[in-house]
Amino acid sequence: MIPPPAIQRGLLTLDRSLFKTSVSAMALRIPASMTMECKKALGTDMLLEPKIRNVIDSDDGEKSKRLVLLNLDIQTEDLEGASEKTKEFIKEKGIDLTKAEISVGYDHWTADEILRAILPEEIIDEAPSSFTTVGHIAHMNLKDEYLPFKGLIGQVILDKNPNLKTVVNKTDSIDTTFRFFKMEVLAGEDNMIAEVRESGCRFKFDFSQVYWNSRLHTEHDRLVKMFKPTDAVCDVMAGVGPFAMPASKKGCMVYANDLNPTSYKYMLENKGLNKIKDNLHIYNLDGRDFIRKAVEDLEKSGYQTPVAVPTAPKGKKGAAAPKPETPDAPAPVAPVTPTAPAHKFKTFDHFVMNLPATAIEFLDAFRGLFKGREEQIPEPKVQLPMIHCHCFSKSDKPEDDVRERVEAVMGGKLELDSVKLHWVRKVAPNKDMYCISFRLPAEIAFASDVKRKLESETDASSTAGGAPEPTESAEKRPKTE
Ligand SMILES: C[S@@+](CC[C@H](N)C(=O)[O-])C[C@H]1O[C@@H](n2cnc3c(N)ncnc32)[C@H](O)[C@@H]1O
Repeated sequence: MIPPPAIQRGLLTLDRSLFKTSVSAMALRIPASMTMECKKALGTDMLLEPKIRNVIDSDDGEKSKRLVLLNLDIQTEDLEGASEKTKEFIKEKGIDLTKAEISVGYDHWTADEILRAILPEEIIDEAPSSFTTVGHIAHMNLKDEYLPFKGLIGQVILDKNPNLKTVVNKTDSIDTTFRFFKMEVLAGEDNMIAEVRESGCRFKFDFSQVYWNSRLHTEHDRLVKMFKPTDAVCDVMAGVGPFAMPASKKGCMVYANDLNPTSYKYMLENKGLNKIKDNLHIYNLDGRDFIRKAVEDLEKSGYQTPVAVPTAPKGKKGAAAPKPETPDAPAPVAPVTPTAPAHKFKTFDHFVMNLPATAIEFLDAFRGLFKGREEQIPEPKVQLPMIHCHCFSKSDKPEDDVRERVEAVMGGKLELDSVKLHWVRKVAPNKDMYCISFRLPAEIAFASDVKRKLESETDASSTAGGAPEPTESAEKRPKTE
């Protein structure tokens, strides 16, 4: 590698011109027609540096000649450091040797190499060139020791990644309720409206105001794959819709909610961007209130599981079968027709609750949720919904830890044959994120002692649980689409 020039370390602003330098290399002057043969013979004795041509025009003005540059370890006329094969080839062909100057500058090195060259020596062990992207935004999580150089670091990242327009640093604090990070722009445009694609859907959102984590892509896909196109899905803490949009596109009837008014706003916008029509209903409520409201609204809507009835073959008069919007998306089911058989009581097939810090605390909302409906729900093991609740655990027996916490909040035992704990990701050295999936037990669904947690009982600061306090705006303006 060509080392960057020695630059005064610890400068706070970036001076790209300081990286201009030149190195000299041994070169073979050959007829242009011999280039391929020469390259083959020299192999790794040729200069193999990224972004630098190793065959250049000859410096003697002869158009029919070329210079083939040698690796920088070979610096003398006796070719010390070169292989015997190279030495013999040069001798046998009677090739002239010369020296060539190669000019390099700031563009030559990677962000990591540049940062290692300019940051103070004591902090370059872990050069801070790692970042995560969300659309055009790179977000970094700089340790304290790098903060004096944050502007310079941001600029280098921006220069070296042409797809980026903005580099931000997450400050330590996370908004406790809405789970987005406070951040400051280090370099580039002050534009936090990101656009990304995930699971065949488009998402637009203000990254400084809402929660988005591209690392949850696999988890979003995992649950959406589990839903059948005929399922009704209730997403209680939906963010900007990474479960809700692909599930709707798949054909599910989706009710999605977020307490953050900005998430609500972008969910509405994303519904339009993804051309989703009537099978996505969007709310801006506290999750506990939403669970009841969504169940009521779904019932009021008269929703029944769609029955796929044969659609007329494509023809002049017949309607074409609906086409999937993405190649891998299952075809939407045909709309319910009057010929579809009447169904018994129908509610959601799935609830999704991805607010890992406190979602378990919201599960008390399911206690007595279907009280008095025993006759309409004669087959609770099929008719009652599956609940997918995200959470954290530090336990070395997470299955027991999570299940016991769920049971304590719901005030009853889960039916073990329906319980599955899925490991989602590590969030800290001794803290993992999980998703517990289980069918709502009849005993809890039909319980008559509905113990709903009052808002005055909640404790937003508790890490173990406690629903966050509703924000003023959400409290005053409960919204549905
Ligand atoms: C960890 S994020 C997950 C968002 C989304 N489901 C995803 O996978 O990206 C949790 C979401 O819960 C929302 N939230 C926080 N408290 C809430 C509450 N009491 N009721 C409903 N949503 C809430 C936050 O605004 C945030 O969007």
